Amino acid sequence: MPDSHSNRPPTFDAIQSRDYTAFQEFIRCSYVAVNSKVAQETYRSYFKKRNQSDEPETRETAARIMDRLPQFQLKAWSVRNLRRLKYSQPDVGIDTMVQKQSEALDEELNALIADAGDDLVLNPDIEMPDYFRWVDFHQQPGGVWRDDVDGLIYDYGRRTTNPNQSDPNKVYHLMWEYLPKGKEYKRVLDWGTGHGGGIITWMQHHPESEGYGVDIAAPCLKLAHVRAREAGLPVKFSQQDIMNMDYEDESFDMVFHMFMFHEFPQQVTPDLFKEVHRILKPGGVFIGMEIALVPDQPAQHIMQFSDAWLNNEPYMPACVEADYAAMGKAVGFSSSKAIEATQNKEALGPTAKDTPPKITWNYYVMEK
Ligand SMILES: C[S@@+](CC[C@H](N)C(=O)[O-])C[C@H]1O[C@@H](n2cnc3c(N)ncnc32)[C@H](O)[C@@H]1O
Repeated sequence: MPDSHSNRPPTFDAIQSRDYTAFQEFIRCSYVAVNSKVAQETYRSYFKKRNQSDEPETRETAARIMDRLPQFQLKAWSVRNLRRLKYSQPDVGIDTMVQKQSEALDEELNALIADAGDDLVLNPDIEMPDYFRWVDFHQQPGGVWRDDVDGLIYDYGRRTTNPNQSDPNKVYHLMWEYLPKGKEYKRVLDWGTGHGGGIITWMQHHPESEGYGVDIAAPCLKLAHVRAREAGLPVKFSQQDIMNMDYEDESFDMVFHMFMFHEFPQQVTPDLFKEVHRILKPGGVFIGMEIALVPDQPAQHIMQFSDAWLNNEPYMPACVEADYAAMGKAVGFSSSKAIEATQNKEALGPTAKDTPPKITWNYYVMEK
């Protein structure tokens, strides 16, 4: 029941003050401006300077020009600080707001999962890999796995993260358009499910499927379970390291992932792929989306690398350079391809049109 004395919604949520809501809306709008207008002006100024230069265009020469552009400096300042303020601004940052209510939220969350049974299997002895443990990804203080409320903080955070600003679940629909047609996707796993948004969205549209979500972070899985229940959907969530899952060989028709490859150092990725290959049925599909570079656009590469560092994404620079399609083939997928899905590409070129550059990504589609 909604509480008539506050704006608490009838779902598991923190009480959000008007100040908090207004501040987060300011952050969201500022992101939109930074990623559209400011980015566009940065490219425009870059190409103006670039056209006056006799040097060949390489990443080094692009970085030198970019570094001196006030627009690039403003963008860098904004990316770092908007994200920091979004989580950590006193009173109205997401982390500060949720942590203040953590005692009540922990109690409510743990009561809500008390009768989860095998819909939520947690492993309190699980070991966090070092590459995960020591990084506060996206500047979320402490990461997503230490406190029970971390899942809620992550879920609120994603709503103002590019490219999710308008509809945080649209990204999943865009990805599933690339699923090979004519196959039956009955048993489906969301690989690194986090807040569970991906598998919950899938199940809303494919209630005939059996939905599973795996993640290493218990707080995320607890929230995912509560959200699935709120939506009236049966999903089986389980806390495991995706390096070594307890699912049987050849047991899934589809494994999907969203924003996952950049979470891992390159050294571990082939083994992660082998493990997915093991649990897929013959003909099964491994599909997902990941941020990418636009080929032959050094200025975009510099922008992407800068965003990655500013955003505490230490594995992103190597990720956007990696050939995941080849890695998929090397671990045994019979077909493995990267599909480029850059939008508004023309905004990146020397003849930049009046359209803002959009984030760029690839869809990876691998079939066993
Ligand atoms: C960027 S989030 C992606 C969340 C989600 N896929 C989405 O659609 O927004 C990365 C997720 O991967 C999980 N993760 C990172 N390393 C993992 C590992 N070795 N095993 C299982 N999950 C892992 C994190 O806990 C986090 O929830």
